[in-house]
Amino acid sequence: MTQLSAVQNQPSDGSKALYGGKGTRRITVRDIALAKERGEKWPMLTAYDAMTASVFDEAGIPVLLVGDSAGNCHLGYDTTVPVTLDEMTMLSSAVVRGTSRSLIVADLPFGTYQEGATQALRSATRLVKEAGVGAVKLEGGQRSHEQIRLLVEAGIPVMAHIGLTPQSVNAMGYRVQGRGEEAAARMLQDAKAVQDAGAFAVVLELVPAELAAEVTRSLQIPTVGIGAGPDTDAQVLVWTDMLGLTSGRVPKFVKKYADLREVMGSAAKSFAQDVVDSAFPAEEHSVH
Ligand code: KIV
Repeated sequence: MTQLSAVQNQPSDGSKALYGGKGTRRITVRDIALAKERGEKWPMLTAYDAMTASVFDEAGIPVLLVGDSAGNCHLGYDTTVPVTLDEMTMLSSAVVRGTSRSLIVADLPFGTYQEGATQALRSATRLVKEAGVGAVKLEGGQRSHEQIRLLVEAGIPVMAHIGLTPQSVNAMGYRVQGRGEEAAARMLQDAKAVQDAGAFAVVLELVPAELAAEVTRSLQIPTVGIGAGPDTDAQVLVWTDMLGLTSGRVPKFVKKYADLREVMGSAAKSFAQDVVDSAFPAEEHSVH
């Protein structure tokens, strides 16, 4: 980047900021690239339906991920593995309909891109044409290089995902990735491979903070951390974890900003008690 272009990209008043800026049009991958040049950090959340997505869009979250975490967080599966392209298309369409500014990124689910680049293009095309998403995400570094390249050549922006890749849970489990010199070097190679293939950003999941910082310094594209420490360009959380709706244990890297499970459960109980006690509906809820 030249000094001049750095100055041109620098918002004097923060008006172009991805979060907290004044823009109202749909965010694009070019806006994401400019944010990296400005050194701006940004937030990303998952969303799986129009109503929740509209709340996050109105809150100014610049990027929403229709993650295949929908499998365990929304659809009742144990893992992301069973999620289908039909399900992702339906959920992604709803998220696009519920938003006007956020860039919507949809996951390519397991089994819809591993066969090769042509299969990946067919699957991603469905998400772009039928659901209207602005970008897709897929898992894997060097192993997904060909897929990323073909999608980008076809005009479909790709967010890559390395480190812990939940679609490979049966092979790798849910363990921190990139520990030790060899594994760290492999992760750096994976990060560079997805950048070379044309990815516009890369998710780093469950990676030691020091390694995530090194990957972030080494890349021109932004890194999006989840369990990857404070030094990535962006941070993503699964919304049901972040708002306390997930039951049971959540990973150590999650910060809970609300306890919606408690709020919703106690509201449901209040409603039920009112019905049992004939306290609802009251006169103000009745028509005559
Ligand atoms: O599916 C998902 O929600 C994800 C995030 C954890 C990055 O891939």
